[in-house]
Amino acid sequence: MLWILRFSGFFSAAMMMVVLSPSFQSFPPAEAIRSSQIDGPRFHLSQSESHLQFSFRKAPPFGNAGGCSRSRGKPGVCDPGLVHVAITLDVEYLRGSMAAVHSILQHSRCPDSIFFHFLVSETSLETLVASIFPNLNFEVYYFDPNIVKDLISTSVRQALQQPLNYARNYLADLLEPCVARVIYLDSDLVVVDDIGKLWSTSLGKKTIGAPEYCHANFSKYFTDRFWSNKRLSGTFSGRQPCYFNTGVMVIDLVKWRHVGYTKRIEKWMEIQKKERIYELGSLPPFLLVFGGHIAPIDHRWNQHGLGGDNVRGSCRALHPGPVSLLHWSGSGKPWLRLDSKQPCPLDALWAPYDLYGYSS
Ligand SMILES: *[C@@H]1O[C@H](CO)[C@@H](O)[C@H](O)[C@H]1NC(C)=O
Repeated sequence: MLWILRFSGFFSAAMMMVVLSPSFQSFPPAEAIRSSQIDGPRFHLSQSESHLQFSFRKAPPFGNAGGCSRSRGKPGVCDPGLVHVAITLDVEYLRGSMAAVHSILQHSRCPDSIFFHFLVSETSLETLVASIFPNLNFEVYYFDPNIVKDLISTSVRQALQQPLNYARNYLADLLEPCVARVIYLDSDLVVVDDIGKLWSTSLGKKTIGAPEYCHANFSKYFTDRFWSNKRLSGTFSGRQPCYFNTGVMVIDLVKWRHVGYTKRIEKWMEIQKKERIYELGSLPPFLLVFGGHIAPIDHRWNQHGLGGDNVRGSCRALHPGPVSLLHWSGSGKPWLRLDSKQPCPLDALWAPYDLYGYSS
């Protein structure tokens, strides 16, 4: 009875989601991020960067409230007391990434104490970021697509084969060894709460934390070939793995480096190349390595699926419960829908963080 009382809220949320979005399970939001059919505004990065400065306006200033551990002066990446956030920056999602950063700063009690780690593959966007956020603490890291080129297998959606999609596997190597914990965030979300709360979540003995979705049919994320091969599917024996979305993760980088999880993920990617054990991109290796071994984080930190499914024009509702982070996973992106004058109702919640489209 107690069990029912405690979990009934969760189950009704789960039911609601299934009813509202029947195709949720066939297109896991985490992996539906990069649509190959982007028809929104293009950023011409091959041209001069100065041209870009006029596409984004400068973000409003921000500053630490009283009681924050640091008050002034630019911190170095190894300084203690910083909140580390990693986000990818690429041409197609730049507008989303900038809105995400804007939202984080706006709702944080201690924005000067946040250090952003931007992962890029195509070009240096340092000048652009600095012009939008003049006082931002950040570093840009080049993620060499060749690192994963030979590991990426073809996936159901061409967009999932983007090398930068796999940069999250390499955070422990890319970031300075002094960085012990990082929050990884996708580019199609906004944070509407103090990210310091997510940062201070306890991971217990676990290496990563994320909201878990145990009602999702876990077996769908792998092929029949995988499940019928005990040598492979035996990896889950003794575990009770649940789906989680890899677009919002708190990662203990010390444990990650110590155990060498990057190699474990790469090992599964190598198996995938030979045996076709899943159809999606960067998500399944995370499920294979961490499924059933993650620290569950409150669902408020990943209200995902707002992009809708792969049917254009479908809108999703929020899942019941409090909201700290809105995630437009799925093929629809709020900036494209707003531009096309066919937004979903919840896209209005993204719009205030958009910094694109005003020349200054
Ligand atoms: C889960 O998915 C698998 C594979 O698609 C299917 O065989 C199984 O019946 C599903 N289970 C439930 C409970 O829906």
